[in-house]
Amino acid sequence: MNTIVVKNYDEMAKKGAEILYQDISSNPKITLGLATGGTQIGVYTHLRKLHENTPLDLKDITTFNLDEYIGLAPESDNSYHFYMNKYFFQPMGISKKQTYLPNGLAEDIAEECKRYEKLIVEHGGIDIQVLGVGSNGHIGFNEPKTSFHCRTHEVNLAESTIQANARYFDSIEDVPKKAISMGIETIMEAKKIILFASGSKKAKAIYQLLRTDEIDADWPVTILKTHPNVTIVVDEAAYNSD
Ligand code: GLP
Repeated sequence: MNTIVVKNYDEMAKKGAEILYQDISSNPKITLGLATGGTQIGVYTHLRKLHENTPLDLKDITTFNLDEYIGLAPESDNSYHFYMNKYFFQPMGISKKQTYLPNGLAEDIAEECKRYEKLIVEHGGIDIQVLGVGSNGHIGFNEPKTSFHCRTHEVNLAESTIQANARYFDSIEDVPKKAISMGIETIMEAKKIILFASGSKKAKAIYQLLRTDEIDADWPVTILKTHPNVTIVVDEAAYNSD
């Protein structure tokens, strides 16, 4: 694993944006796996600034998001559809037909998960997967104890995730209890993975990833130790666990 430790959130976001900018420039037909959450807002904001200075050719890229809440419409301002439009697709001028997210309103969730997996395969798999990490070590919405072999699936969110994400909602009762998430196996098939983490709330998960040898389903992020091409951009608060 290539670990880059930076001073703070803003440095993480800048470094992350530079890496993504470089990767997209060198492969205009790239398929990106994208993540949401507060961690990525800065990365997307800086990427947009780089793109405004020297435009990337984005007409042939494709994006697949990691996850979406079940029961939220794309127009709901807490849905990941809404987040992606706001922070990435619209500012970068990426058209709707290039972007994919799981449909959290699908009548048959199991079918939707299969459809999503099939789409990823039809596009030749994911070249670069962007990841954040939950304070409980989740990647995507793959909560502790999820099988490392799962594909895109329906998830019951952990109580700690519902609490952590309540900050984005009017009240904790509004946080959906379920989501669709790419599976850990789906994520691990990406050719390259970039994980971002900032702040002391992520320190325990980063400790499990970088300072132990264990691959432990209680900390889903630890599976990244077995991937051949992982870059981690982490700030000091997330890196220093003491
Ligand atoms: C969320 C998302 C993840 C994200 C993580 C961290 O629940 N499902 O994809 O990486 O948790 O979120 P944040 O960056 O807001 O801390």
